[in-house]
Amino acid sequence: METSTFDPTRGEIGDLDSIRRSGKKLRDWFLREKRDLPFRRNRTPYSTWVSEVMLQQTRVAAMIPIYETFLQRFPTPSDLAHAEEEEVLQYWKGLGYYSRAKNLQKGMRKLVQEFDGVFPRSLDSALSLPGIGPYTARAVLSISYDLPFAVLDGNAKRVLSRFFLFRGNISKSDSVLQEIADRFLDERHAGEHNEAVMELGARICLPARPLCAQCPLSRDCLAVREGVQNEIPVLEKKIREIPLGIRFLIVRSPEGILLLRYLKRRFFKTIFSLPFDWEGDSPYDSDPIVDLGIEFSNTGSVFKHSITHHKILGSIWESVIDSEEARRVEDRLREKKEFGLEWKWCSWADLENGFPSSIAKKIRRELSVSERELPGILRGKNPSENRRAE
Ligand code: ADE
Repeated sequence: METSTFDPTRGEIGDLDSIRRSGKKLRDWFLREKRDLPFRRNRTPYSTWVSEVMLQQTRVAAMIPIYETFLQRFPTPSDLAHAEEEEVLQYWKGLGYYSRAKNLQKGMRKLVQEFDGVFPRSLDSALSLPGIGPYTARAVLSISYDLPFAVLDGNAKRVLSRFFLFRGNISKSDSVLQEIADRFLDERHAGEHNEAVMELGARICLPARPLCAQCPLSRDCLAVREGVQNEIPVLEKKIREIPLGIRFLIVRSPEGILLLRYLKRRFFKTIFSLPFDWEGDSPYDSDPIVDLGIEFSNTGSVFKHSITHHKILGSIWESVIDSEEARRVEDRLREKKEFGLEWKWCSWADLENGFPSSIAKKIRRELSVSERELPGILRGKNPSENRRAE
């Protein structure tokens, strides 16, 4: 290729013929080497939409079994649109980011109601669907309809910034990178081209120590030519991790275990969770925390968990209350109208469905109890009373 460093002010990234030749080499490599993945076998807009949303948050190997059972249970947009949200969240377990599952279902409902269940063919209409952003819209339109839209995910940004020697900060350069992606796009094979770029990023053009010797583009790659493939892409400084102590509170009444949901908090905004409280310093002291007016005992069990850049050390506390105290807790919750609080009582056995986060699983594992009994302070109690909570 003749160009050197990409200069967005010139709007040039090399002559089109050499770009086309590189695009062909990349696609030939992809057709030869691509992994046989379940979501590549059936490319309906629906299956592409689901798989691409899942891939935004999980590695391929972890996502595959979840994708397969999800599609078995919800094979069409209509199946997903008409399902109970709780069931959808259950099938999403292991992927995290439950708001994505909720938005996916919202998107499907709009698709069914306003588009007769047929994914639109224009970018604007696709973007009007809840849960669909520029990446997903472009992925579905190109992969399932072969429409000429170039995708830009993390892998594509890395591949493009190295190949065209883009030295800007890639976290702040989406519009320039989109321009580059559009120029590089093989418009006659948009879906395969996009997947080839992402596949190259996932398997060859790795973030650290890229496998340039195996790369079909290395002879044309400007970063390789300059020997700077390890310095590009330029990334924003890593966000500092925030350590956080969180006390998770198990309130066990004859009605079950208490779960809360309210939008005004930082974590678990959209799902029910165990009530929680901060332990030690928290930058989120201003988040409203519900005081339930009951005493808790420390079980002594702790676990680690990460949510985005928060490194959480969770401790597990518990309190057993009778029906009368449960009514008092509910009265207290009713008083907190300004939080938009919702609550429910859930059985211990069903905790992971009621509180659909891997934290629930960790808590159950930490306490390592049978399905019927909580440890700690419950041990001294009358077991028949404990069982009534199930
Ligand atoms: N990463 C996200 N979506 C992908 C796809 N369809 N192919 C390869 N890698 C991907």
